[in-house]
Amino acid sequence: MRQVGQPQRRRALSSRVARAAFRRGVPASTRFRLESYVAGNRSVVPEGARLTASRMLGRKPVLPYLETHVTDHCNLACGGCDHFSPLSPPRFASPPRFARDMHRLGQLFENIRTIKLLGGEPLLHPDVLTFARHAREAFPRASVVLLTNGLLVPKLSDDFWGAAMALRLELEMSVYPVAIEYERIERTAARHGVRMRTSRRQTFCRIPLHEAADNDERRAFRDCRKWMNCPVLRDGRVYPCPRIPYVELLERQFGIKVPVADDDSIDIRGAADGYEVARFVRRPVLWCRHCHPRRVESYPWAPSRRQPEEWGLEAREDGSWL
Ligand SMILES: C[S@@+](CC[C@H](N)C(=O)[O-])C[C@H]1O[C@@H](n2cnc3c(N)ncnc32)[C@H](O)[C@@H]1O
Ligand code: SF4
Ligand code: SF4
Repeated sequence: MRQVGQPQRRRALSSRVARAAFRRGVPASTRFRLESYVAGNRSVVPEGARLTASRMLGRKPVLPYLETHVTDHCNLACGGCDHFSPLSPPRFASPPRFARDMHRLGQLFENIRTIKLLGGEPLLHPDVLTFARHAREAFPRASVVLLTNGLLVPKLSDDFWGAAMALRLELEMSVYPVAIEYERIERTAARHGVRMRTSRRQTFCRIPLHEAADNDERRAFRDCRKWMNCPVLRDGRVYPCPRIPYVELLERQFGIKVPVADDDSIDIRGAADGYEVARFVRRPVLWCRHCHPRRVESYPWAPSRRQPEEWGLEAREDGSWL
């Protein structure tokens, strides 16, 4: 029954959207794409138009992606880690705080397609599964993913694997040139019925960061979207990328001054609706002026020496940073 009903419902919805779009003077080509999207073809419509479609239907929006740190520190130190984890003291996120944030996001969004739990190294958190549970409770249809460097995976208990399977938690493992039996880990995940994928990370990239706010924020944001499209939740606020909430680690270690303002993130409690948050993460913030994605360099993965050059910082003679 459901299989027959579903396409019919979609077709009815798609004509409703087409009529609403026509009344609002939306051009024919955009109307066609909206209609086709609501009818089930997800590939034809860019994200902005998807938001327009769900607004017209009076629905809450869907956020494509959100990531959050479970810990800020790590048990591996990769040179130029773009979350600055080699510079972090041990810091664990709070499960009750995360539960409140997930609950609020559940009020704002119909769904978040992918919720990524990372860090730092998330498996260092003794309550890492509690984060997965809160994410799953708030978003039953989300893909909840734990991104790990794999070092602690061989030590995970059967209870962990059982709970991960029950929560439909997916594991993603970054594969570095370090001595880990990745294939054995993949077999273990498969044995426990947990979905696991691996991403090879033999090459890292460095986006220069200047103390002076000397780039155009729109240009910087447009340039970085090619590889950095990862809104981050930290303590009730959503930022367009991890550089902004965690740059304080770089400031503390090297004395660089790149102040972050309230307007560089959005408070999810204060947001009128999910559309405000969804719009926010699709636009540059003023802090992006410090960032130079067009001058990105790639380099082979290497352990961190915790030196400023790893993060694209160049000291000037007067003590400031280029
Ligand atoms: C910050 S790590 C956190 C999760 C976990 N510790 C790990 O390494 O998978 C998240 C992802 O960012 C990638 N990453 C971090 N710094 C990077 C850089 N400078 N260039 C490219 N990828 C980077 C990592 O390889 C990893 O896949
Ligand atoms: S990229 Fe490397 S240093 Fe950064 S969090 Fe992951 S494993 Fe740790
Ligand atoms: S600071 Fe802005 S421009 Fe730089 S990576 Fe983040 S979102 Fe992109």
